[in-house]
Amino acid sequence: MFVGIIGVGNIGSIIADTLSVDGKNLFLVDRHEYKLQRFAEKGAQTAFDISQLPNYLDVLFIAVKPQDARKLLKELGSVDFNVKYIISTVTGLKISEIDSCFHIPQIVRIMPNIPIAIGKGVVGVAYGDSLSGNDKKFVNELLAPFGKLVEVKEKLFSAVTALSGSGPAFIFVIVEALVDAGMKLGLSYEVSMELILQTLKGSAELLENEQKHPGELRHLVTSPAGTTIEGIYSLEQRGLRGILMQAIQDTYRRACELSDEQKEV
Ligand SMILES: NC(=O)c1ccc[n+]([C@@H]2O[C@H](COP(=O)([O-])OP(=O)(O)OC[C@H]3O[C@@H](n4cnc5c(N)ncnc54)[C@H](OP(=O)(O)O)[C@@H]3O)[C@@H](O)[C@H]2O)c1
Repeated sequence: MFVGIIGVGNIGSIIADTLSVDGKNLFLVDRHEYKLQRFAEKGAQTAFDISQLPNYLDVLFIAVKPQDARKLLKELGSVDFNVKYIISTVTGLKISEIDSCFHIPQIVRIMPNIPIAIGKGVVGVAYGDSLSGNDKKFVNELLAPFGKLVEVKEKLFSAVTALSGSGPAFIFVIVEALVDAGMKLGLSYEVSMELILQTLKGSAELLENEQKHPGELRHLVTSPAGTTIEGIYSLEQRGLRGILMQAIQDTYRRACELSDEQKEV
């Protein structure tokens, strides 16, 4: 299978790494040679601009920043080029906007997150109306090495961006704070990190395996007049839930703004 990727930055390079391990033939486009070099050394074909895109690609990923996407689509629409599937990672760029610039029937919009780098990401997926069951199966198989795929209506994509697209950044901030808290209590960085990472992984797995509401599991570790309830009370007094919900709300608003800005370019 021949897969093209335009934009070999943070996300495009992870997609390229994963698909190359999965045995796909890659054609990568980026205006920076240093981003292409290591892939070229491993046998990928590369180019600095889209005029060199070959016509034999099965799939083309678009992984550029939202502000570059519209211009890129116009350029793509004006070159003699064909492909079976387009998969866009671009925040805020609608399937209908891709379709209006560049008439490829099979268009898929995805919102991956950074743990796709180790095959443990979650990828929000919205399929264009014209994808058949077989098309979806093809796309799902291609994306499977990235982690879990979750089909979402396109109108909810800004919510997915806020929750899981940006989510790892929020988790990293929380982990950093917890590790610092451990260090303040005298634990080394290494021990503190190990305790937190295992606590995160174990809690996530327990939630997934038990299929219970988080409040129910939280109650299991909260004994009357014990230590945990002290911490919970402190979190509630300082409004942790409100802070987290507001952070997701603000991220969501920005994702919606980016979507609107796309229309104005
Ligand atoms: N990072 C994440 O965690 C994440 C998660 C989900 C979705 N996304 C979305 O995925 C998209 C890519 O994000 P990113 O963080 O990977 O961006 P990035 O690191 O900026 O990568 C994009 C690359 O494409 C290049 N480029 C842009 N237009 C080009 C053109 N016409 N021809 C050739 N090269 C071009 C850019 O060059 P310049 O640097 O010169 O512009 C850059 O090297 C964004 O829309 C983002 O919202 C990102």
